[in-house]
Amino acid sequence: MSVLTITSLRKEYFDTYTNETIPAIDDVSFEVAESEFVSILGPSGCGKTTVLNIIAGFIEPSGGEVLLRGRPILGPGPDRGVVFQSFALFPWTTVLQNITFGLKMRGIDRRGTLVPSIGRPGRLAGRDPVATTASANCRNVARSSGVCRTA
Ligand SMILES: Nc1ncnc2c1ncn2[C@@H]1O[C@H](COP(=O)(O)OP(=O)(O)OP(=O)(O)O)[C@@H](O)[C@H]1O
Ligand SMILES: [Mg+2]
Repeated sequence: MSVLTITSLRKEYFDTYTNETIPAIDDVSFEVAESEFVSILGPSGCGKTTVLNIIAGFIEPSGGEVLLRGRPILGPGPDRGVVFQSFALFPWTTVLQNITFGLKMRGIDRRGTLVPSIGRPGRLAGRDPVATTASANCRNVARSSGVCRTA
C-alpha cells in the first residue's frame, strides 16, 4: 500500500517583479510505499524542491493532489522531517538548542536525555552551529527531524 500518493501535481509561482506566472511543475504523479527510499533527480530548476516543499506542507499546489496515508496534506507536521537544501539553522543558538527547537515549540523538554547522543559524548551540544563542520550540521538537522518524529 502506498504511504504517499501524488497525482497530477502542478505548481505555478507568480513573479511579482515581472508580473509573470512561472510554471514550476506540471502533471507530476508518483507513489511511495512504506519504507521505500525514493530519489528525485533532475536538472536545476526542474521543480525538485517545489515537489518536496508541497509534501512538507510549506506551500500549496496550484493543482493536483497529495495524499499522506490517504489524507490530504494541509500543512507542515511532525510526521515529516525536512533536511533543507541550505542549512536552516539558528546561528545565534547552540547545536542542542537547534536540535530541540521542534520539541520546544511543542512544549516538550527532553534536553537532558538528548545531550549524550550529540557528539561524543555531548561534545557538540553547547557549540555554535556555525563553528561546526557542514557535515556535522547536516547530521544535526537530520537528528532534529528524528527528534520531532519520535517525540
Ligand atoms: N518562490 C518562487 N517564486 C518564483 N519562482 C520560483 C520560486 N521558487 C521556485 N521558482 C521557480 O520554479 C522552478 C522550479 O524551482 P525549484 O527550486 O523547485 O527547482 P529545483 O529542481 O529544486 O532546482 P535546484 O536543483 O537548483 O535546487 C524554477 O524555474 C524556479 O526559478
Ligand atoms: Mg532545489
